[in-house]
Amino acid sequence: MAIISPSILSADFVNLERDIHMCRAAGAPWVHVDVMDGHFVPNITIGIPVVAALRKVTDLVLDVHLMIERPIRYVEQFCASGADYLTIHLESDTAENIHKALSAIRAKGVKAGLSIKPGTPVEALEPYLKECDLILIMTVEPGFGGQSFMADMMPKLIWLREKLSSVNPSCLLEVDGGVDLNTAPICKDAGADVLVSGSAFFKARDKAAFVAEIQK
Ligand code: DX5
Ligand code: ZN
Repeated sequence: MAIISPSILSADFVNLERDIHMCRAAGAPWVHVDVMDGHFVPNITIGIPVVAALRKVTDLVLDVHLMIERPIRYVEQFCASGADYLTIHLESDTAENIHKALSAIRAKGVKAGLSIKPGTPVEALEPYLKECDLILIMTVEPGFGGQSFMADMMPKLIWLREKLSSVNPSCLLEVDGGVDLNTAPICKDAGADVLVSGSAFFKARDKAAFVAEIQK
């Protein structure tokens, strides 16, 4: 069974509390929070105060995806704000700082995630596999919701599942970008555990049916 993590990038920000409760009512166990800084990606979204505010109103797993430069500067604050999973990008800093940031996240008792953009080869993740609780494979160019799913990223999941089986079998594989009822089965067949869905989830008329179908 897969886990759905609805991305609140497609929520109504004026009614964020209502929409978070809607995710829960639909049966989603996680919620995905996209943090963008206007440098690592060409868009700016939300940050630490919003994660802290969400933490106060929900017991859903807060799956925080940092698309920011040099995340090591902020990981402690995001951990303190109540993130359950905190994912950083491999491309966002030096190798030394990526190792340090993953270790800092785990030291706070938070699950550490590492993500790669579509153009980054999956082999680049190899030195970090033991230090991660989650690997996030982007299936769109990070920055915006509503883009088309890149099925050619699926070999990355297959490669990771094979590698992780010996070095870190409990590490979760997450897919983010363009996931809907048509593309979710492709992700699950390739070994994904967690499926982020923004626009498709928030557009679905029957959200409980959408969640049930994706989590099959
Ligand atoms: C893109 C974000 C995604 C986005 C997914 O940079 O990381 O989480 O919200 O949105 P959809 O599901 O619409 O592609
Ligand atoms: Zn995301």
